[in-house]
Amino acid sequence: MLVLLLLCLGIAPYASAQTSRTIADFDKGWKFHLGDVKGAEKASAPDKNWRLLNLPHDWSIEGTFSKDNPASPEGGALPGGIGWYRKTFTVPLASKGKQVYIDFDGVYQHSDVWVNGHHLGFRPNGYISFRYELTKYLNYGGVNVIAVKVNNSEQPNSRWYSGSGIYRNVWLVTTNPVAIDHWGTYVTTPELGIKSAGVVVKTTVRNSQSTAKPYTVRTKIFDADNKLVAVGGSIPSKAQLSDSAVSFENTLPVYAPRLWSVESPYLYKVVTEVLIDKKVVDTYTTPLGIRTFEFDADKGFILNGKSLKILGVCDHHDLGSLGAAINTRALERQLQILKGMGVNGIRTSHNPPAPELLDLCDKMGFIVMDEAFDMWKMKKTKYDYHQFWDEWHKRDLQDQILRDRNHPSVFIWSIGNEIGEQYSRTDTVGRVIARELAGIVRSLDNRPITAANNDPEPASNIIASGALDIIGYNYHHQDYESFHKRYPGKKFISTESTSALETRGSYDMPSDSIRRWPISWDKPFTTGNKDNSVSAYDNVSAPWGSTHEETWKVVKKNPMLSGMYIWTGFDYLGEPTPYSWPSRSSYFGVIDLAGFPKDVYYMYQSEWTNKTVLHIFPHWNWEAGKTVDVWAYYNNADEVELYLNGKSIGIKKKTGDDLHVMWRLKYEPGTLKAVSRKNGKVVLTKVINTAGAPAKIELIADRSNIKADGKDLSFITIRILDKNGNVVPNADNLVKFKISGAASIASVDNGDPVSHAPFKADYRKAFHGLALAIVQGKEQAGTITFTATSEGLAPATVVIRSK
Ligand code: GAL
Repeated sequence: MLVLLLLCLGIAPYASAQTSRTIADFDKGWKFHLGDVKGAEKASAPDKNWRLLNLPHDWSIEGTFSKDNPASPEGGALPGGIGWYRKTFTVPLASKGKQVYIDFDGVYQHSDVWVNGHHLGFRPNGYISFRYELTKYLNYGGVNVIAVKVNNSEQPNSRWYSGSGIYRNVWLVTTNPVAIDHWGTYVTTPELGIKSAGVVVKTTVRNSQSTAKPYTVRTKIFDADNKLVAVGGSIPSKAQLSDSAVSFENTLPVYAPRLWSVESPYLYKVVTEVLIDKKVVDTYTTPLGIRTFEFDADKGFILNGKSLKILGVCDHHDLGSLGAAINTRALERQLQILKGMGVNGIRTSHNPPAPELLDLCDKMGFIVMDEAFDMWKMKKTKYDYHQFWDEWHKRDLQDQILRDRNHPSVFIWSIGNEIGEQYSRTDTVGRVIARELAGIVRSLDNRPITAANNDPEPASNIIASGALDIIGYNYHHQDYESFHKRYPGKKFISTESTSALETRGSYDMPSDSIRRWPISWDKPFTTGNKDNSVSAYDNVSAPWGSTHEETWKVVKKNPMLSGMYIWTGFDYLGEPTPYSWPSRSSYFGVIDLAGFPKDVYYMYQSEWTNKTVLHIFPHWNWEAGKTVDVWAYYNNADEVELYLNGKSIGIKKKTGDDLHVMWRLKYEPGTLKAVSRKNGKVVLTKVINTAGAPAKIELIADRSNIKADGKDLSFITIRILDKNGNVVPNADNLVKFKISGAASIASVDNGDPVSHAPFKADYRKAFHGLALAIVQGKEQAGTITFTATSEGLAPATVVIRSK
């Protein structure tokens, strides 16, 4: 019926194949020089001897770990400095009369950009996306040069590893002179019923030529199968003045809308067209997820009419051994591992994320808290963004909201993390800024605003400002339950929680007491471990935080608590707190830097997913006679029975709010077996054997087919096994890698926070029996053969196909 009607109106029912705007991947073929070069901005500057590379690129991750690097271990102990990038490219004569722009998704940091020697601008913020117009400086039909100076030499400027360089994607965008503006659509669904959703599409059209003919804006909505479900148009505009923008608003009904949810993130797409003389002169696509949500003071978070606890994690932007250089597959893998644990929320701590993160969260179903700043005017490190606050905060915040507001996965804006201005009881600077920032956000979007406060008092400047829709605390889990006594009728979210520490595979015994490191920084933190490791039992935490179990127990039972974002999902480079050098990465992750889950991952999996879980730990290789605690995380069962060498050690059941069970026993080598049962019937069985000497290597590729696009990755897990196939829990064998075919080794890791071995290498020691190699295909289809060898061990080979 709709199709018929459209045909009568002369409207093609399917997306027009004509693309009047081109968005070209501009990542390939850049020249790079580490260090400052006088005159490198000039088009004629020599760059023949510079290194040829493809973006995204992070030069810090290629550096050598040293405690003397000015970023300090807090910043990841890797070098910063100044770097130059240049790209020579041709622009066809046919582009004359078009608008040409270069879009940077993110450059860390203090970037200056020139085209053909003309300075286009300076952008200090290392996490913001920005655009420059090239139109009037280009040689059409000739050669052009873009030069970018990146200055990350003022250190320290971050409390975690930032990376350095053009570490996100770059795009060359060409449009007609009349086109939809940069971030020029805004799609909302203010009216949503079971039968239909009213989709409001605001479109801003910019005319960049001296006069423009009248034009029309047409909006189409397609469902996930690319079927047209709605169309609407504007009345023709008047002729529009040069370099001006005009906005249009359409409301389109989508009948029987499919809703976006975390389990089923259904996506429509909005295709907006500009037409002159009935010809499409621009096409612009915006994602659309239809959903309703609210935060309720008593009931917590409600999505599409149903209560949903936000089970989130905070993460920094690095991708482990790949550094800050964005790679969509690496990000997708992180999100898949988190989904497997039951996570449904991501906080982009403490800055605007790569756009690809939000695309993936839209597709995979995560509730995103999109955060803007880690500091305002008051600094946290000597050279951080506070230097640029006055001049840039408004522009940066506006750009973040404009860029991100169409993502259905974004539910909350956070205007800052643990901001220094919250504490003063004598000045009100924090209140003034909080109101200003909230005002900027509200002028562009109506999603709720929070801030991640570590001062939970009503007198805290940011809370007292009244600017927040949802009051957010970092930590203070002891105070969650009394929240309404302090803040009657207010809504609450745990913006950041936990900060517990674990080193994968490292266990201290006995472990039933909770340890917090001393709050006073001059007292060294000791776990009794000389290797700067912490116990993998959930028993060590920051003094301001809690063990994983402590916070989850509180959040679980209290419906008014809309959710929590654990610090952190993954270990990240930098902030090895409470240790310092030789440690260079964090211990807070539920998952280590290489992407290997720590034990507590399975506690969350048993609580947050429907998957049936039985996870027992530690390993079973100890000194004879040692007293060992064995823990089990389980669900969907009444009890677990543990056996050592066939003899029952006893049946344990979780009672009250227990999240694990434990047996304390004397170690003897052999076989530890756990059996979970429900109503007397076996649900799951888990066995851990005492491992013998390392004998062979096992390789497991997460994907054995990858795309031949030069970007796709296969993550290969290396396991050191004994002759019977048991993982050897303390194996640290040096493993060497060889690769043949159209691929290279992008990086290697093992999750050890103390290792100073390079990530860009063709070898790695195992850490507690495991290592990781990341293989990156080239733009060439074929067979990739990856081989791992180690002295005294049987080698292994895995084959990957790239298509
Ligand atoms: C928080 C802070 C995070 C991280 C964490 C470590 O206070 O927001 O960025 O530093 O502590 O426990």
